[in-house]
Amino acid sequence: MHFRVGKLLFLFVPFLLVSMGHVQARNVEQSAAPTGAASQAKDSGYVGSETCKGCHEDIYKVTERTPHHKMGFQPGAAGKGVNCEACHGPGKAHVEGGGDKSKIIVFENLSMAEANKRCLSCHTYGNEHANFTRSAHASNDIGCISCHSPHHAKTEKALLVEKQPQLCYQCHTEVKAEFSRPYRHRVNQGLVQCTDCHNEHGGFLPKQLRTSVAQDQVCFKCHAEKKGPFVYEHLPVETEGCTSCHTPHGSTNPRLLRVSQVNLLCLQCHTLAMSNVPSQPPIGPAHNQAQKYQACTMCHAFIHGSNFSEVFFKP
Ligand code: HEC
Ligand code: HEC
Ligand code: HEC
Ligand code: HEC
Ligand code: HEC
Ligand code: HEC
Ligand code: HEC
Ligand code: HEC
Ligand code: HEC
Ligand code: HEC
Repeated sequence: MHFRVGKLLFLFVPFLLVSMGHVQARNVEQSAAPTGAASQAKDSGYVGSETCKGCHEDIYKVTERTPHHKMGFQPGAAGKGVNCEACHGPGKAHVEGGGDKSKIIVFENLSMAEANKRCLSCHTYGNEHANFTRSAHASNDIGCISCHSPHHAKTEKALLVEKQPQLCYQCHTEVKAEFSRPYRHRVNQGLVQCTDCHNEHGGFLPKQLRTSVAQDQVCFKCHAEKKGPFVYEHLPVETEGCTSCHTPHGSTNPRLLRVSQVNLLCLQCHTLAMSNVPSQPPIGPAHNQAQKYQACTMCHAFIHGSNFSEVFFKP
């Protein structure tokens, strides 16, 4: 719902936003005037995409199939959408100079921040991109065109320079290693995506997570059955969250557990020597640690919470 509202707004807001921006961006607004390319040329140094096509037909043809140009080249919508000059700035001087590179915006020559600004003049909407400049990516000089390419995209959806997860692995090699462990979310098979859990565009939450990890919202999207509420909650699931027992990416232990054996995991909190801090929960198991008790979840099977058993037995 939220997202759709954002999208709708987006269709109308860009030109408002742009009109508050710098001079070139303001010209984009003028180019939105229904009077079309002819008057743009007169007024503002815009020549229209058809003119660019004359010399850059290869680029034009590739770009024509992308969402940018689909908008820009709709019949009757000339100049209203994202034409060449919406990104490259007015091209008259460039054309008159016979293709003078110094008279047109060349993204390679912009700083990453400047390039981002051009994209963000339209793409600041909803929750998705609004926080980009505060993201770990932006503050480390990773910008829109590190991941997207308007002309040389490898994916049709979202114009990516590389599909996921390879895109992310290019820089996050340590994460690649984690997803190669024996137990992992099947990101490499495309079953789960990095961007299911992370907002690649940044947000308020730590680790650029899409939803709070503290409340495990990021996990409940797919593991709703763990959400409860349960009559008998296992307290750490509530208080410390999924990642207190599981690694989110991958693990050498079954069930993505942080610890190699279940009993060792449980005993991190349920110390046998209750005498340590006798006044504090949790209390140790009633039973000893003979072999038959070591597979704790054989008996305490509903370890994430239960509506039937206060010690999480099967109903
Ligand atoms: C959404 C913004 C955007 C639009 C619209 C756009 N460009 Fe680009 N252009 C870029 C970016 C960013 C680059 C840098 C290369 C890349 O990332 O694809 C670029 C690169 C170029 C280059 C350099 C050569 C190359 O292959 O990279 C040319 C020439 C060019 N654009 C021409 C055009 C023409 C002609 C149009 C209209 C048909 C156009 N651009 C529309 C953003 C845009
Ligand atoms: C009269 C032919 C002509 C027209 C029309 C023309 N260009 Fe160019 N453009 C060129 C030539 C030639 C170059 C290559 C200059 C070079 O490599 O030194 C160039 C280079 C560029 C570059 C830089 C490419 C790079 O190597 O990084 C961009 C961006 C660009 N043009 C965009 C546009 C846009 C946008 C339009 C329409 C507003 C346009 N051009 C119209 C001839 C033209
Ligand atoms: C770290 C890589 C990365 C960076 C940096 C990045 N993006 Fe993206 N972007 C992606 C990926 C991956 C997707 C596709 C997500 C999916 O498939 O669900 C995407 C999706 C999109 C989409 C389509 C979906 C939507 O949200 O509407 C747009 C538009 C977009 N990005 C624009 C931008 C802009 C503008 C910037 C710079 C301010 C930017 N991106 C920076 C990786 C990135
Ligand atoms: C003049 C406004 C404008 C500018 C500037 C602009 N875009 Fe866009 N962009 C749009 C519109 C409109 C769409 C099509 C509607 C949509 O997909 O949400 C779009 C679509 C996209 C998509 C594809 C979304 C999808 O669903 O596949 C990506 C990715 C994207 N833009 C990235 C960029 C990047 C990167 C830049 C800067 C180099 C940029 N845009 C500059 C307006 C703009
Ligand atoms: C061009 C390199 C590059 C690409 C591509 C890239 N990242 Fe990043 N990413 C970085 C850098 C640099 C940082 C900041 C330093 C760090 O935390 O590693 C970062 C930070 C992050 C963070 C925040 C880490 C933290 O500690 O807060 C997340 C999450 C993230 N990236 C996810 C992704 C995802 C998901 C993708 C693919 C859609 C992706 N990245 C693509 C370079 C990249
Ligand atoms: C199932 C959800 C999920 C998926 C899928 C996922 N992540 Fe994460 N990621 C997390 C969580 C949760 C954290 C925070 C871990 C913590 O704080 O203990 C995290 C942390 C990170 C970090 C910060 C460094 C670190 O290890 O703490 C980076 C970078 C990162 N992820 C990148 C990626 C990339 C790249 C992909 C895809 C290849 C990806 N993630 C897929 C949930 C996920
Ligand atoms: C986008 C959906 C999605 C999200 C988000 C997600 N998971 Fe998963 N998870 C799955 C799927 C699908 C499986 C089944 C694994 C398989 O068959 O490869 C799974 C399996 C698991 C398993 C069992 C692995 C095994 O070896 O049986 C654990 C534990 C797990 N997830 C924990 C988490 C945690 C913790 C989070 C939040 C950080 C999370 N998941 C977020 C989709 C998701
Ligand atoms: C106190 C430790 C602990 C916490 C906290 C925890 N888990 Fe688990 N989880 C386990 C153990 C132990 C297993 C293995 C159970 C078994 O061996 O049958 C497991 C198994 C799983 C499985 C795979 C088997 C199944 O039951 O579906 C998933 C999925 C899972 N956990 C998701 C989550 C999610 C999501 C959260 C957060 C809401 C979470 N876990 C929090 C200990 C924990
Ligand atoms: C991160 C710490 C932590 C881990 C790990 C943990 N627990 Fe707990 N557990 C608690 C806390 C705290 C309580 C609540 C104690 C209370 O309310 O007095 C609790 C309660 C319980 C209870 C309910 C009995 C009671 O006293 O309320 C059982 C049974 C239990 N845990 C079993 C396990 C098993 C089996 C494992 C391993 C799969 C495990 N726990 C892992 C912290 C943990
Ligand atoms: C063979 C079945 C079985 C196994 C395996 C098992 N338990 Fe229990 N556990 C019980 C029974 C029976 C109770 C007592 C239940 C009651 O009081 O209603 C219990 C009670 C508990 C309690 C509640 C506090 C108490 O002392 O009454 C905790 C905590 C606990 N077990 C933890 C563990 C841990 C940790 C492991 C693995 C090291 C484990 N259990 C393995 C059967 C088992």
